[in-house]
Amino acid sequence: MNSMMIFYLLYFLCLCLSVACVICLCVWNSLWRGGFAWDGSQLEFNWHPVLMVTGLVVLYGNGAVLYRIPLTWGYDKLPWKLLHAALMLLSLILSVVGLCAVFNYHNAKNIPNLYSLHSWIGIAAAALFAIQWVAGFAGFLLPWTPLSMRKLLKPVHVWLGGSILILSIAASISGINEKLFFALKGQTNETQPYSSLPPEALVGNSLGVLIVVFGLIVLRILSTSEWQRPDSSPEDRTQHPGDTAAVAKGPVPPTREEAGDRWS
Ligand code: HEM
Repeated sequence: MNSMMIFYLLYFLCLCLSVACVICLCVWNSLWRGGFAWDGSQLEFNWHPVLMVTGLVVLYGNGAVLYRIPLTWGYDKLPWKLLHAALMLLSLILSVVGLCAVFNYHNAKNIPNLYSLHSWIGIAAAALFAIQWVAGFAGFLLPWTPLSMRKLLKPVHVWLGGSILILSIAASISGINEKLFFALKGQTNETQPYSSLPPEALVGNSLGVLIVVFGLIVLRILSTSEWQRPDSSPEDRTQHPGDTAAVAKGPVPPTREEAGDRWS
């Protein structure tokens, strides 16, 4: 199987897993957790997993692999940059609303905030994501940002992007596990215990597995150099000292951006 076919197979899997995660989240919270509301009750909490996973995992992961889709390579990069930024902004907004849901719920019920390992990892992921979005917007979308700054920012943006996805997945899995332990206590709250693997636990565990597989596929796509958008903007085209292949090919012609069109 050639490399492009493998890409599209992985990308198709990525899309199927995205849909499967959102369906699992909605089914879990509607069928077993009573549905949704915005009133400080348990039903407000239910927005938290749905919005966090949809925002910080599903939309985020899909936004991250956008530049890797070969069908987009023949076109100007700017619309894809804008779509990448817009998807990431939507993902950030969903995550902020998802965090508001859990903080409101905790405050309404006098539950302490930020005490668990899950909440520490989760708040770190969300904070880094907010910083990454602002830095990415300023660095890559504002036309007056110097090229030297973009070249410095690019590898940090790529590394931090992957790290945020890993943190979001860790937060999602720990959150699902914590919720199943809280909710499925056996006799004390008239549910079957987690240890007897009732249908709710099966759906929650499966959701965790789907999230992990989704994350592994996104990270695989991001780490494969063959699937990087070729020769796009100048910040992508840094030649390393000792890069003999690049030296053999001779000097790289200026891109439209280097030639003055900063918005390419
Ligand atoms: C990227 C995904 C997630 C992030 C960034 C995240 C973040 C957070 C944060 C910051 C809190 C603390 C709120 C407070 O202290 O008032 C929290 C609480 C909580 N989250 Fe998540 N969460 C995520 C996904 C999930 C998922 C999928 C579940 C599954 C149901 C979940 C379940 C919980 C629970 C039960 C709490 C309350 C107990 C605690 O503070 O640990 N979370 N989450």
